[in-house]
Amino acid sequence: MFIQTFTVAAALGIAGLTATHLGDPTRVGGPKDDPMTLTTAPVSQQTLERGKEMFNVSCVPCHGADGTGNGPIAANLRMKPRDFTRGIYLNRSTASGELPTDYDMYHTITTGLHDTPMPSFRQMRPEDRWAIVQYIKTFSPRFTDSTEYPLDVVNVGIEILSSPQSLARGRTLYLQMQCANCHGVNGEGNGPAAGTLTDDFRNQILPTNLTNPSDYKFARSVVDVFRIFSTGLNGTPMPSFAQSLSDTDRWHLANYVWALQSTDQYMDNQTENTTK
Ligand code: HEC
Ligand code: HEC
Repeated sequence: MFIQTFTVAAALGIAGLTATHLGDPTRVGGPKDDPMTLTTAPVSQQTLERGKEMFNVSCVPCHGADGTGNGPIAANLRMKPRDFTRGIYLNRSTASGELPTDYDMYHTITTGLHDTPMPSFRQMRPEDRWAIVQYIKTFSPRFTDSTEYPLDVVNVGIEILSSPQSLARGRTLYLQMQCANCHGVNGEGNGPAAGTLTDDFRNQILPTNLTNPSDYKFARSVVDVFRIFSTGLNGTPMPSFAQSLSDTDRWHLANYVWALQSTDQYMDNQTENTTK
C-alpha cells in the first residue's frame, strides 16, 4: 500500500534526484565516502531532505515521524517497529554490538524482514532507498559518534562445503554451544528458554524455528547463516560466536543449521512426528 502511494508521488515528479548525486547505492557508502574507514560519510542536505520525504510517505505509518517506532498503525502490528533512536540493528555485516554499514541498511530496506511486518521496498528507486538510509541514521547519535568507527566488517573467509562429516561436527557444536536451549534439540524453536526471551526493547522474542525456511528473517543462504554466527543479532538474545568458535567450526555449524531446513537425517528420533 505504501509502495503504491510512493509510486504515485514519484509519478507526480517529486524532486528528481539522480543516482549521480547520490553515489552508487550498491556500494557500501558510495564511491568516495566509505563508512568503514571514515568517521561519518558526508551527506548532502538534498539527500537528507529526499530521505525525509520518502520516509514520511513509506515508513512513518509504522516507525513514526520521530523514528521511535510509534507510528499510527504500530499498535495494530504483532511486532513493534524498530525504534531508530537507539541505533540497534539485527541485520549487519559488522562485529557484535557495532553499527550496521549503510549497505546493510540498504539491504534490509530492499528485502524487508521475512515473517515480520517489515515489508520489502524493492520497487522504490535505489537512490531513494539510499537517501532513506542516510535519513534514518540522523535519528541516532551513534552514527555521528567518532568512537563507533571504523566498523569491523566480518570476513566470511573460505566456505567449507557441506559433507556428512561437516554435518556431524555441526550437530555436536549445536548441542555443545547450547543452541538447543533456545532453538530446541531439533531446531524447532522450542527450547526450554524459548518462552522467556525478550529483546533490548523489552518485547517478547521467539527463537527462530530453524527447520522452517519461512521463519528466517534474513538468512537466505548458508553464507548468511555463517555471517549471523559471526555478527550476532544486536538487540536480541541471539549471541555472536565469533569469539567462542573458530571460523571452521562456524562453517560446520552453518552447514548443519542450513541442512535442518531440508533434511531430517540429523535430527533426533522425533522426526516421525513431523513426517507422518
Ligand atoms: C507495516 C509496518 C512497517 C513499515 C511500513 C516499515 N517498517 Fe521497518 N520495521 C517494521 C517492523 C515491525 C520492524 C521490526 C522487525 C524486527 O524487529 O524483527 C522493522 C524494522 C526495520 C529496520 C531494522 C532492521 C534491522 O536490521 O534491525 C529497518 C532498518 C527498517 N525497519 C526500515 C524501514 C524503512 C526505511 C521503511 C520505509 C521505507 C520501513 N521500515 C517501513 C515495520 C515496518
Ligand atoms: C539465548 C537464546 C539463543 C541462543 C543460545 C541461540 N539463539 Fe539463535 N536466535 C535466538 C533468537 C531469539 C533469534 C531470533 C532473532 C529475531 O527473530 O530477531 C535467533 C535467531 C537465529 C537464527 C535466524 C536468523 C534469521 O535469519 O532470522 C539462526 C540461524 C540461529 N538463531 C541459530 C543459532 C545457533 C546455531 C545457535 C547456537 C550456536 C543459536 N542460534 C543460539 C536465540 C538464541
